[in-house]
Amino acid sequence: MIETITATSSETSETTLLRATDLAHAFDYTLFENINIAIREKESIAILGVSGSGKSTLLHILSTLLEPNHGKVYYRGLDMYSQNDKKLLEIRRKEIGIIFQSHYLFKGFTAKENLQISSLIAGKNINLDIIRKLKIEDTLSKNVSVLSGGQQQRVSIARVLIKQPRVIFADEPTGNLDRETANDVMDVMLQYTTERKGGLFIVTHDEKIAARCNTVYRLKEKRLVPVIL
Ligand SMILES: Nc1ncnc2c1ncn2[C@@H]1O[C@H](COP(=O)(O)OP(=O)(O)O)[C@@H](O)[C@H]1O
Ligand SMILES: [Mg+2]
Repeated sequence: MIETITATSSETSETTLLRATDLAHAFDYTLFENINIAIREKESIAILGVSGSGKSTLLHILSTLLEPNHGKVYYRGLDMYSQNDKKLLEIRRKEIGIIFQSHYLFKGFTAKENLQISSLIAGKNINLDIIRKLKIEDTLSKNVSVLSGGQQQRVSIARVLIKQPRVIFADEPTGNLDRETANDVMDVMLQYTTERKGGLFIVTHDEKIAARCNTVYRLKEKRLVPVIL
């Protein structure tokens, strides 16, 4: 049974950060349907699936960027796609962190300037510990266009963490990284999630990375199936 959360059901929304019910979406054809998923404080969820199965689309729906054809997304009890644009934008800016598959860093600026922009917009300090753990100290003074794909990926992760979102959505965040660096990045994101009582959704091809999360699903034949790795 799917329980509907309203803004007043504080008991459930205290520990459930985000809940989506009966999602379905199609572009040219139905990508998925009957998708139910919820994330609690301190929980990390990995979503596996072959290329084209709709993982990025599902992440966009969960993260306030794309209204689904069917179903609801509740963020702490609030029906996201019933909010007005101003409220939705406010939640997205303050509470939601999105690490995109392609890094939208500001080209022509240094890594440090990119981080400073995020810090300024969010009104939060740059956390040097995160910079150290992501091993990007050496990139700070460089223009982002000369950084490797893996370095750009880590700068974009730092940029999102600096704004201190409650729920992080990461689309293949370790895709360009070697095993050791991928694990370092996972360490940072998982530690952030438990320390801040946040939630982490991560889309990945990599079962070893997925296995580090509390919960793993596979998007397969239009459904989200729980898997044990
Ligand atoms: N904005 C869009 N308009 C039309 N088709 C789209 C759009 N976004 C994604 N698609 C299509 O939906 C399918 C799933 O895409 P995507 O969610 O990116 O899958 P994945 O991330 O699992 O590779 C693909 O066939 C893609 O071309
Ligand atoms: Mg994708």
